[in-house]
Amino acid sequence: MTIPQQDQTRAEDTREHTAETTFPPSPEFIADAIADSGLHDAASADRVAFWAEQSRALLEWRTPFTSTLDWSDAPFARWFADGELNVAENCLDRHVRAGNGDRVAIHFEGANGDTRTITYAQLTADVQRAANMLAGLGVGQGDRVVVYLPLIPEAVVTMLAIARLGAIHSVVFGGFSAESLRARIEDAGAKVVVTADGGWRRGAVSPLKPAVDEALQGEGTESVEHVLVVQRGGNDVAWTERDRWWHDEFAAAEPEHEAQAFPAETPLFILYTSGTTGKPKGIVHTSGGYLTQAAYTHKNVFDMHPEKDVYWCTADIGWITGHTYVVYGPLANGVTQVLYEGTPDEPQPGRWWDLVDSYGVTVLYTAPTAVRAAMKAGRQIPEARSLESLRLLGSVGEPINPEAWQWYRQVIGHDRTPIVDTWWQTETGGIMISALPGVTKLKPGAAQTPLPGIVAEIVDDDGHRVDPGGSGYLTITEPWPAMARGIWGDPDRFVETYWSRFPGRYFAGDGARLDGEGDIWVQGRVDDVMNVSGHRLSTAEIESALVGHEGVAEAAVVGAADETTGQAVVAFVILTTEASEGVDRVSAATELRNWVGKRIGAIAKPRQVVIVPELPKTRSGKIMRRLLRDAAEGRRIGDTTTLADPTIMATIAELM
Ligand code: WT7
Repeated sequence: MTIPQQDQTRAEDTREHTAETTFPPSPEFIADAIADSGLHDAASADRVAFWAEQSRALLEWRTPFTSTLDWSDAPFARWFADGELNVAENCLDRHVRAGNGDRVAIHFEGANGDTRTITYAQLTADVQRAANMLAGLGVGQGDRVVVYLPLIPEAVVTMLAIARLGAIHSVVFGGFSAESLRARIEDAGAKVVVTADGGWRRGAVSPLKPAVDEALQGEGTESVEHVLVVQRGGNDVAWTERDRWWHDEFAAAEPEHEAQAFPAETPLFILYTSGTTGKPKGIVHTSGGYLTQAAYTHKNVFDMHPEKDVYWCTADIGWITGHTYVVYGPLANGVTQVLYEGTPDEPQPGRWWDLVDSYGVTVLYTAPTAVRAAMKAGRQIPEARSLESLRLLGSVGEPINPEAWQWYRQVIGHDRTPIVDTWWQTETGGIMISALPGVTKLKPGAAQTPLPGIVAEIVDDDGHRVDPGGSGYLTITEPWPAMARGIWGDPDRFVETYWSRFPGRYFAGDGARLDGEGDIWVQGRVDDVMNVSGHRLSTAEIESALVGHEGVAEAAVVGAADETTGQAVVAFVILTTEASEGVDRVSAATELRNWVGKRIGAIAKPRQVVIVPELPKTRSGKIMRRLLRDAAEGRRIGDTTTLADPTIMATIAELM
C-alpha cells in the first residue's frame, strides 16, 4: 500500500487539535452509569482475562471455553475457540427464558406509515420459524445466503435465522446495483438470495427483485438454488422456477426450532467493503468473539439499561453499523430499539425527531452527515419537538467536526447529553475507540481513547510510536475479539492489506493525531478510499467502472470536501477519440454519472464528471490526484512543475 504523504498534511491543516471546551460527565450521569473506570483497570491488569470475563458475563455459552485467545497463526486470531454457542439463541431465546419475552425488541416504523411492535417472544418465534423455512430450502451450516432487503423486520429475522442455522449471511445494501449484487453472489457462492418485491421510499415503491433477476442472469451465479421474496411493495414482479414467496414458505414451516450450538469460530457473516483496489473485499466475521465485543461495546459505550432504555441506531443493515449496532449488540443485550425504514425528512422535515418523541428514544446513534444535514435544515425543526427523552448521543462513520458536535449536543441533546464519537471499521467488527460516558471528559471532535481491552498506537512512517502532540497512522497492536478473521477466499490479501505496512500491527488506512492528554483525533483516510456520507467508496472501483464504458479512455477519481456529505466523488474523464467527436459534454457527463450508478449503485454516482483532454501526469505517467483534488475543491492549484504538461491544470480548472 502506498501512503500519499500530502493527504496527511492536508488533513492536519484542516483539523482542530485542541478542544476549546471540554465536557466532564455530569454527577447525574455518573450516578447511574454502566461503565466506570474499573473497566480500564481490569483490562490493563490482564487484557486477555478481561475479555474472557466479559464474554462469560455477557453471553450464554453451551460449552464454556477454556482457551481465550489463540494468536499462534497471527494475524488470523481464534477467540474462545473451544467454546460453543448459538448466536441467535443469545440474541433471543435466552431473554425469553429469563422472563423478558414481553419486552419490546423492535418498534418498527415503515416508510409508508405502517408500524409493528415486536416483542422478544415474537421475534424468537419468527426466527425459529424462519430457520425452519431456510432449512427447508436447503440452507445448512456453512452455506452462504445473500440478503438484499429494505430495512424491515424480515431483514433482522432473516439474519438471525441464518445465524441460528450456523450458516453465513452476506447482506448487500439495497442501494447497490445488480452488477454489485452479482459480484457478491459469485464471490460468496451463495445458495439462497433473500429479497423483497420492493421497498418504500418517499411514498413510492422502489423495486428490488428486478436487480436480483438481472444479477442471476449474469455469470458466476449458478450456485443460487432459490430466491425467497418478501412481499413488501405489493408491486408486480417477474417470477421464475427458483422463486418462492416468503409468506407461503413461512406459513408452511414448522414453528419450533431447536438451536444447535456451534464452535465459537463458526463464520457468522461476510460483509463486502471497498478497498484501495477495484474489487470489494468480503470481510469475514465469526461468532463468539464478534458477539462478545458487540455486546460489550453496545452496553458500555451506549450505557445500556435494557429495562428502561429505548435505543435507536439509524444505520441500514447493509453496513457494519447495522450488523453490530442494530442486530447483534442490542439484541444480545436484550434492549428495546426503533427500526425505521425511511429517510430523516419523509414525509415531513423533522420525521426523525418525531420518532424520538413518539417512542421516547433515550440513546440515538447516527452519522455526522445526518447531523450536518439537520443543521442545514435549521434548528427550528428539532426545536419544535421535545427531545426530552434523549440522554446520550453517538456518532460514527467519519470524523465529526467540532461545529457539528456542538450543534448536536446543544440542539438535539439540550446541552445535557454526553456525545460518544465512536471510531471503528467493517474490519474491526465493533467499536474500538470511543469515550465512555460517565468516565471520559468529552472533547468535541476527538474519538478519544481506545476502549478497555483495546490497544491502539499512532506511529510514524517508520512504525515508531509518536509522542503526544504528534500525528501519524492509526494502528492496533493487540488482537481483539471482533477482529476480522480474513477476506473471504483470499487469506493473502488480508495479510497484505492490513498487516504488511507495519509488521505486527493492524493498519486500515486512517491518519490520526495524539494530543497532549493522550486523546486520539482521527483525521480520515490516508489511502485512496473516500468517505461519502459515512459510506466507504474506492476511487479505484469507480475508476474501473468508468473505464468499463466504451466511450471512456481514462479516468481519475478523487474525494472532494463536501459540506454535508463529508466528501463527494468527483471524476475526471478522458473520452475516446470516437466518443469525443461532436459530443455534448453535459450529456456525456450525465451519461457517465448514471453509468456509475448502474454499475456500482446510486451511492457511488459522482457529484461531478469533468470531461478533460488530458490528466495531470508526471513524466513517469503517474496521475497526480492531489492536483485534481485542488481543482475539485476550488483551491489554488498546487505545484505543477513535475507534470509532463504543466499547462494541463489551467485547462482543467477552466473546464470546471
Ligand atoms: C472508516 C471505516 C464503523 C462503521 C461505519 C463505517 C471512518 C468511522 C469514524 C469516526 C473518524 C471514522 C474511518 C474508518 N470512520 N468512524 N468516529 N471518526 N473516522 O465503517 O465503512 O468500514 O469505514 O470510516 O475512516 O477507516 P466502514
